[in-house]
Amino acid sequence: MFGRRSTEGAPQPRRIAPQNQAVANTGAAAQPRAAEAPAPRTIPEVSEPQRRHSEEYYDVKTTVFNALIDTIDLTQLAKLDAAAAREEIRDIVSEIIQVKNVVMSIAEQEELLEDICNDVLGYGPLEPLLARDDIADIMVNGAATTFIEVGGKVQKTAVRFADNQQLMNICQRIVSQVGRRVDESSPICDARLPDGSRVNVIAPPLAIDGPALTIRKFKKDRLRLDNLVKFGSITPAGKTILEIIGRVRCNVLISGGTGSGKTTLLNCMTGCVDHDERIITCEDSAELQLQQPHVVRLETRPPNLEGEGEITMRDLVKNCLRMRPERIIVGEVRGPEAFDLLQAMNTGHDGSMGTLHANSPREAISRLESMIMMGGYALPVKTIREMICGSIDVIVQASRLRDGSRKITHITEVLGMEEETVTLQNLLVYEVTGEDANGKLIGRHRSTGIARPRFWDRAEYYKEEGRLAAALASAEVLDSNGNPLGESHG
Ligand SMILES: Nc1ncnc2c1ncn2[C@@H]1O[C@H](COP(=O)(O)OP(=O)(O)OP(=O)(O)O)[C@@H](O)[C@H]1O
Ligand SMILES: [Mg+2]
Repeated sequence: MFGRRSTEGAPQPRRIAPQNQAVANTGAAAQPRAAEAPAPRTIPEVSEPQRRHSEEYYDVKTTVFNALIDTIDLTQLAKLDAAAAREEIRDIVSEIIQVKNVVMSIAEQEELLEDICNDVLGYGPLEPLLARDDIADIMVNGAATTFIEVGGKVQKTAVRFADNQQLMNICQRIVSQVGRRVDESSPICDARLPDGSRVNVIAPPLAIDGPALTIRKFKKDRLRLDNLVKFGSITPAGKTILEIIGRVRCNVLISGGTGSGKTTLLNCMTGCVDHDERIITCEDSAELQLQQPHVVRLETRPPNLEGEGEITMRDLVKNCLRMRPERIIVGEVRGPEAFDLLQAMNTGHDGSMGTLHANSPREAISRLESMIMMGGYALPVKTIREMICGSIDVIVQASRLRDGSRKITHITEVLGMEEETVTLQNLLVYEVTGEDANGKLIGRHRSTGIARPRFWDRAEYYKEEGRLAAALASAEVLDSNGNPLGESHG
């Protein structure tokens, strides 16, 4: 093969691309993987990232890595499929360990082999984290510090990169797979891993302590409303209400803070859409996984290095309207596209949905209002509010509570205007009632006693009124006298 095999002395240098030498001593992957070679994944070792290696281990790794880079022909390596390339590297590394007389236990040796394979072929120290499906977010704050979010809780890991250069190389490798570049001249970049995970990189000089890499892990098994019921995020009755809202083509805004579960909820709700509808999705980074057969997925594009070629969310939403959509789904509404989405909702694209950053349904309305005002429309506030009322039917609020659990805290209807104010009506709310000894919050979802929501007619039209009435009634919490608890308005 192409790696030099020798038992006498250190392996001899072979042909290496010049840029490989430049990064070889960083312990980084020398050359971005050939585009056709998919990222190999290591076997998940759940406890692995928690282990902290000694400095000695990293020294040995650098020595072995450098010897490997001097031995191997990376161009040839790129021609192999992932499994064969991994096998080849393992063979050569084992040989180097023998030749260099490195003293290591079998387990340490195995770890070193995996580490080096990951560095050359994959995403280096990130690989064990990427292989775990229980992680929601990976947050790398420079070479020495990596946090993960598991089960709603953020925790520090022992994962570290050889240095910021290695981390930067891995960031570059990730973004180059989607044809982008990240460096000092364009230090902010969004990208996607081949498995669909959403990636953001911000590099120095903007990130002061080294590149900051944030990955929202893509769940292999996408969450469904049933899973949310199992997690206690919503009750079975609440789930039925959401299903009906999705099916009967209410226009829905999903509101929530960062990482509260908005996209997940949007994904779940699109599951209720009938299979004969034409759906167009607009996203900054395609995360939604619609199951319907008739879906067109659109993604925004950042400007190129010359500052040209940007396609904004607004461009996409406007274009959507010329594509004969039945429903428009906007991953995240954050700017002037709010106006176009509301117009679409108002003009025969019932059942459109979008998410937005806000901490309550009431705040969602004012966020929407300010987005429209910032879009430069010289409309009186009252007109904007009327437009919101005429477009949005339901706001679903997602929250990540302080114990890390994610809940659907409100299903709220937009009723109309009272003078200058938008009136909202909660159908279902989540109330925290206490806290257990482990700091876990105790609470309950309860119906506010509204028997006939504003979308009742729609429910009737789709013959869902029986199911809706039953769900609303069973979501009701009664007081000790058997009477419904009082209403609450958002
Ligand atoms: N109800 C839930 N229970 C448990 N985990 C959840 C729940 N909803 C979402 N998650 C998980 O939480 C993480 C964040 O979810 P999601 O991407 O939907 O949040 P988001 O509000 O869209 O975040 P962002 O503001 O960054 O776009 C994901 O890993 C997802 O699988
Ligand atoms: Mg999201």
